[in-house]
Amino acid sequence: MKLPTDLVPAIRNAGKILVLTGAGMSAESGVPTFRDAQTGLWAKYRPEELATPEAFARNPQVVWDWYDQRRKNIAAVKPHAGHFALVDMEQYCNSMLLVTQNVDSLHQQAGSRGVIELHGNIMHSICSRTGKPIDNDWIDSNPGRPPASPHHPLGQARPGVVWFGEQLPAGALEQAMKAAHDCDICFSIGTSTLVQPAASLPFAALNAGAVVIEINPAPTSLSSMANFSLQATAAEALTAIMDGLADGK
Ligand code: OAD
Repeated sequence: MKLPTDLVPAIRNAGKILVLTGAGMSAESGVPTFRDAQTGLWAKYRPEELATPEAFARNPQVVWDWYDQRRKNIAAVKPHAGHFALVDMEQYCNSMLLVTQNVDSLHQQAGSRGVIELHGNIMHSICSRTGKPIDNDWIDSNPGRPPASPHHPLGQARPGVVWFGEQLPAGALEQAMKAAHDCDICFSIGTSTLVQPAASLPFAALNAGAVVIEINPAPTSLSSMANFSLQATAAEALTAIMDGLADGK
């Protein structure tokens, strides 16, 4: 894909880079997004029936089974060229912080380090009463959908993800927001920019004077304000950027 001529030089001269990713970053690995028409999870299921503490209290088995199916799907996929391009991009800047809304560990599998998971991780389980982590060995060796919690007599195992109405992991948002204020370049990749507080990060970076680069095949509320809005897929745009950096453009 053809890139704006001043995009790669802007990245090359950047000291600090913040990267925010959303479900679109995992789409080319085969993980469905949430809001894409027809294919998105929220096009098929009602989030209030599956992704809230109230839904879990009402029907723990339905919620547990749905997340268990998503876990199995995610366990079967691999990172794509876009994930690896982000790992390679680290060598072209002093510091890169990767903040993801995704719960699928694909960035970590590709080799990205110090990833901040704003919405938790689907492969982890926690106690519904205490929030304490529960080992997968316990999950695998205890019956029940969901299994009982080892940490509380009335507790059950629940997915280690952030549900609507819940707090983000302690410190994660603060670290991400600080990076938004300090960065020279902020990428917003594969997110509809609809879910707060994550959606406010690229705008905070913009207000702090950073160069904002959006990668998304479809327009979002950020597109008209971003310095560069690349209407392309994550793999297409990130590999093109890496080629440009590697070519010394
Ligand atoms: P969405 O499903 O809302 O948005 C995905 C975005 O990715 C859309 O804007 C698509 O146009 C874009 N997209 C699709 N394919 C792409 C590709 N190959 N490359 C690049 N972009 C692509 O997902 P998020 O913005 O991540 O939260 O949603 C935010 C949060 O809402 C999620 O973390 C989840 C969800 O409910 C919780 O459950 C708390």
